[in-house]
Amino acid sequence: MIKITDTVRYIGVDDKTIDLFESQYTVPNGISYNSYVILDEKVCVMDTVDARFTDEWMENLLRELEGRSVDYLVISHMEPDHAASIDALCEKFPEMRLIGNEKTFKILGQFYEEDYSRRFVTVGEGDTLTLGAHTLSFYMAPMVHWPEVMVTYDSADKILFSADGFGKFGALDTEEDWACEARRYYFNIVGKYGAQVQALLKKAATLDIAIICPLHGPILSENLGYYIEKYDIWSSYRPEDEGVFVTCASIHGNTKKAALLLCDMLRERGVKVAFADICRDDMAEAVEDAFRYDRIVFCAASYDGGVFAPMADFLTHLKSKTFRERKAFIVENGSWGPTAARTIKNALAEMKDITVCDPVVTIRSSVKEDTVKALEELADVIANS
Ligand SMILES: Cc1cc2nc3c(=O)[nH]c(=O)nc-3n(C[C@H](O)[C@H](O)[C@H](O)COP(=O)(O)O)c2cc1C
Ligand SMILES: [Fe+2]
Ligand SMILES: [Fe+2]
Repeated sequence: MIKITDTVRYIGVDDKTIDLFESQYTVPNGISYNSYVILDEKVCVMDTVDARFTDEWMENLLRELEGRSVDYLVISHMEPDHAASIDALCEKFPEMRLIGNEKTFKILGQFYEEDYSRRFVTVGEGDTLTLGAHTLSFYMAPMVHWPEVMVTYDSADKILFSADGFGKFGALDTEEDWACEARRYYFNIVGKYGAQVQALLKKAATLDIAIICPLHGPILSENLGYYIEKYDIWSSYRPEDEGVFVTCASIHGNTKKAALLLCDMLRERGVKVAFADICRDDMAEAVEDAFRYDRIVFCAASYDGGVFAPMADFLTHLKSKTFRERKAFIVENGSWGPTAARTIKNALAEMKDITVCDPVVTIRSSVKEDTVKALEELADVIANS
């Protein structure tokens, strides 16, 4: 049992068996679906959990309730990892009311057969709900990262229930650096909605917050400035670190050899370097690192008159997360008519404020003396830009 305060308890669950979170993200340390209960004159549950964990979560809840019943369920987000056990809770507590906004209830009706409308309590920006000692205020956070998302502030214990904001991959029993997996989570799941996160941070700045209770990952109660600063950097698309992210998509290894050479050359020049083999390494980690550093290098083989598919895929991911405001460099390879650089440039032209810098290095099949020379020149330019 995790006691957040005397009257606010954690009732979430760890998922360590999921193959891919959202059918896309590897979660080597699992993920938690957080849920909370506030035990006041009225009892209020904050979100539910994924359908695979309804029973375990219900046990956690019933243990904390000690025979009491639930008066309210606050639904901050309708995505099924948090909203798939609403029906079970409604069944258990026939008098329980559902707290959400207009969009919440529209989406709820789409997910469930049963008509829950008699239970709806519709709230809007700044509305409050008093439970006794606790008064909850609701703040809309549209498109962080679904349209119905709202966060809840409890003025009694100064808790911000932040929905998916400040979430992190990794089950709660995982000991690991917060920023690494929170950043991967942020850019891949919320990354497109920086402006909306900025708006939410401005609202949060007006509240006196002592504890952040997100829907995934650890409850944050110390050094909150650190987490808020990270979110400010990420959501404003500012590079977090000065450095170069070298990416490569190589069929037979020649382009990869060049990419790794370039990494060495940059390190020799005192530049911080991160590297990803887009064909093998985690795509979500690559998306994260693209946003993290101020410069990026795309190294790729030409393929069927375009660029090797894993690199095209990476570019698609970057575009969908609104990758922007970075300096880009290109190393292409081709055996008869190199087309990778042109294809990469066209993809980057569809993004916002990506500056493609010269020189573009063209390898003809394998790394030779002239390639090494061209890479040295490129390393000089990257190091000085
Ligand atoms: C299916 C396939 C399609 C290719 N299409 C092109 C192409 O359109 N233009 C080109 O110059 N080379 C093309 N190539 C050749 C590779 O881009 C070239 O051999 C390059 O050296 C591969 O670098 P790597 O060793 O890093 O895989 C293609 C290779 C394969 C296997
Ligand atoms: Fe979500
Ligand atoms: Fe979530």
